[in-house]
Amino acid sequence: MNASPELSPRERFLRACRCRVVDRTPGWLMRQAGRYMEEYQAVRRGRSFLELCKSPELCRDVTMQPIDVLGLETAIVFSDILLPCEAMGQSLVFEEKRGPVLGPVVRDRAAVEGLRDFEAARATPWPAETIRLLREPLGPDRALIGFCGAPFTMAAYMVEGGGSRQFENVKRMMWGEPETLELLLERITDNLIGYLRAQIEAGADAVQIFDSWAGTLDQAAYQRFAHQWTAKLIRGVADLGAPVISYVNGCDHLLEIMAGSGADVVAIDWRVDPGEALMRVGGQVAIQGNLDPTALLATPEVAARETRRTLEAFAGAPGYIFNVGSGVLQWTPVACAEAVVRTLRSWGS
Ligand code: CP3
Repeated sequence: MNASPELSPRERFLRACRCRVVDRTPGWLMRQAGRYMEEYQAVRRGRSFLELCKSPELCRDVTMQPIDVLGLETAIVFSDILLPCEAMGQSLVFEEKRGPVLGPVVRDRAAVEGLRDFEAARATPWPAETIRLLREPLGPDRALIGFCGAPFTMAAYMVEGGGSRQFENVKRMMWGEPETLELLLERITDNLIGYLRAQIEAGADAVQIFDSWAGTLDQAAYQRFAHQWTAKLIRGVADLGAPVISYVNGCDHLLEIMAGSGADVVAIDWRVDPGEALMRVGGQVAIQGNLDPTALLATPEVAARETRRTLEAFAGAPGYIFNVGSGVLQWTPVACAEAVVRTLRSWGS
């Protein structure tokens, strides 16, 4: 496993994305910036989440909080996956209790045809601008990740008009009017290509595509309504050379399909057994994951122990990036997140 001389955290992360040998395991935490940190709450006070997402200086500061406070060595730009929905013509508000609310909902062909195409530099300049502002505080040795939502998850939000338990509206469209859903996915994908390219061109070292809801699809539906569009999105940015991480929550039944999307890294949730993941797709793609984020809710001792257990389960695999299997929860004590980072940084060194 040893590669000397010591790699910078940025080199370590980027090498692991490409399944190359590293000196110790790199890692970061999905949703590493957010409400569980008092420093975030201080910035958030007196402004809406959306105002924050549209203020690149503040996004820069919030992105740096888990780096400076917890000692994380890889950053993810602070933003949200739903900003492109607004640029395509829906209104977007984040309600304190309900979460995101989008409207008017997209439920038929006319509504899909009525959506706008947007130019990222003009309509959604914030994540790219934040990325440009981050290079100075991050310095040359820490990697920065850009991101977007996956086409299926974006379509689910646009059709449902917000979060959902059963996704009855997008699934009704999938069964009843599959060509309409495909047209929506195509529109979303074509716009996300420009959105992601802008982030890489601004200096993102890698990008992650978040598919929060595609795990609710069976394999055939996943192929048709999620995988092929994620693969098209990845092809649309491939020439820029930044590694792509594909995350699907609830992906145990989809791993082999995901590994064929063109992504360099497959990010898995906590329900996937690490040994099985390595057997099924290890070597073909790098793997990122997969500590249960609820293991950070109890005590620092439990968080450290479970971090070690995850690291041990993947030990020796070239192309492994530590992470949680879903975003850090708002009830996470900072001491538990710190214990995770401390355990990761001392692992194998
Ligand atoms: O990881 C990071 O630190 C970067 C920032 C980031 C946020 N959202 C900030 C955020 C990222 C990468 C996301 C992705 C995202 N956004 C996803 C995919 C994540 C996954 O686990 O599958 C989804 C589904 C969204 C949409 C979204 N944004 C929802 C459903 C909500 C409301 C739920 C909640 O936790 O409040 C948000 C709000 C949001 N996005 C917050 C943050 C820090 C909380 C906003 C606040 O009230 O301050």
